Amino acid sequence: MSARIIDGVALAAKIREEVAVRATELTAKGTKPGLAVILVGENPASAVYVRNKVTACEKAGIASVKETYPADITEDALLARIRALNDNPSIHGILVQLPLPAHIDAHKVIETIAAEKDVDGFHVSNAGLLMTGNPLFRPCTPYGVMKMLESENVNLWGAVACVIGASNIVGKPMAMMLLAKGATVTLCNSKTRDMAAHTRMADVLVVATGRARMITGDMIKPGAVVIDVGINRQEDGKLCGDVDFDSAREVASAITPVPGGVGPMTIAMLLVNTVEAAERAST
Ligand code: GUN
Repeated sequence: MSARIIDGVALAAKIREEVAVRATELTAKGTKPGLAVILVGENPASAVYVRNKVTACEKAGIASVKETYPADITEDALLARIRALNDNPSIHGILVQLPLPAHIDAHKVIETIAAEKDVDGFHVSNAGLLMTGNPLFRPCTPYGVMKMLESENVNLWGAVACVIGASNIVGKPMAMMLLAKGATVTLCNSKTRDMAAHTRMADVLVVATGRARMITGDMIKPGAVVIDVGINRQEDGKLCGDVDFDSAREVASAITPVPGGVGPMTIAMLLVNTVEAAERAST
């Protein structure tokens, strides 16, 4: 069996078109959606992510403001900038690209963003609302994964789902979203013993570890849907996921590629969250 390839580029393009329509409608009514993106320091990967987010905004009719600060900006100065953006009515979403330099407390930064502008969905209030079943903003990467599962008509009710990687950005909110749809969820982390015992039970397997090709075909239940959140740079310069694609596709029923899978969905869902923030602010 060779798995169906879930096309994240195509699905993201469709979502971005829908966002552009909503942004145009809002702008016609006098509210142009606005996103502020803050980049601190020189991390080259972060710079690429931020550039892609800004470009995607422009294409969708969302105004974007990019603010770049040196790695030695003080925490107080960064917090002051965020407070000013909280008070700016033309800004509906605020995103601070992570990771931040070690002298800045990322938790403090995230908690300073107004919850109703927290389009990343990282604020403790948004994490709590997701956990208690009444989400305001869902973190973009797991939200994008849910859209992919929905587009594939994956029935999560009573399904066994396994999430590998328990970060605040992906794994934990992913587990909450799958649980909310009726899945029985196992959330594995770097200390998990006998990982394969968990992965082999999963009808839906989501992998977000940052370890290249760590999940191989023999660890996957035949017919499972496999979602690979990882983006790793190989020695030859090419990108690969956290799943060993060639062996996994022989076992899975559907699988996301890297690149062209989850990556484009993250940005599409950021645009969805931003236009939603602007819609809420305009009513
Ligand atoms: N760093 C890695 N992923 C993300 C994300 O989704 N949002 C932000 N702000 N930083 C990140």
